[in-house]
Amino acid sequence: MNNNYDKIANHYDTLSRLVFFKSQVNAQINQLQYIQENSRVLIVGGGTGWILEELAKIYTRGLKIVYVEISAKMITLSQKRNYKDNHIEFMNVGIEDFKTDVLFDVILTPFLFDNFVEQRAAKVFGQLNEYLKKGGVWFLVDFSLNKVNGNWWKWLLLRSMYAFFKLLSIVEANKLIDMAFYFFEANYLIVEERLYYGGFIKATIFRK
Ligand SMILES: C[S@@+](CC[C@H](N)C(=O)[O-])C[C@H]1O[C@@H](n2cnc3c(N)ncnc32)[C@H](O)[C@@H]1O
Repeated sequence: MNNNYDKIANHYDTLSRLVFFKSQVNAQINQLQYIQENSRVLIVGGGTGWILEELAKIYTRGLKIVYVEISAKMITLSQKRNYKDNHIEFMNVGIEDFKTDVLFDVILTPFLFDNFVEQRAAKVFGQLNEYLKKGGVWFLVDFSLNKVNGNWWKWLLLRSMYAFFKLLSIVEANKLIDMAFYFFEANYLIVEERLYYGGFIKATIFRK
């Protein structure tokens, strides 16, 4: 299991909208207004690429985007998107194998870390932290459970999702990792935090 969504790439967006309506989408769209023009943007695990069209609604040109996706099918779907005149470099590799000397202004990891076991999450956090400029922003969107918003239905839904993805041998994780811990340890500041879907989805913008 390497968290590759090839098996469900063609149905992923439909499934997401079926369960979460547009919450997963809205959580990400709201963050995009924080991107400055002509930014260098790294998107990791962007899925079918709908976010590229949302970015193109804000800036029709000037963005320099690197789009890292482990799923070849997701890459193929993303390449068909209308991203206007923005420059996109599609990289069909796991983020673990993506190396760069270029630093980014913005990093997006939407619903990426909830696939990972702690060891991988820690490694990928450290790697991406190196790729983000000082003063750059990191858009973290993931499922969230804590003592304050840990209602029974969230636990049930999360367990069902992990069971579903285990059945298909896609996702390695069994539980959510507390990613905020890594950001605070690396002295990031919170610029904005919003909850969606009754608090089950948390969208945080961190500044390095
Ligand atoms: C839960 S889906 C989220 C898709 C998209 N962000 C969205 O919200 O619609 C996670 C995506 O991350 C990709 N992924 C998982 N592990 C990855 C890795 N190590 N490197 C790059 N992409 C990865 C999967 O193939 C999948 O497309």
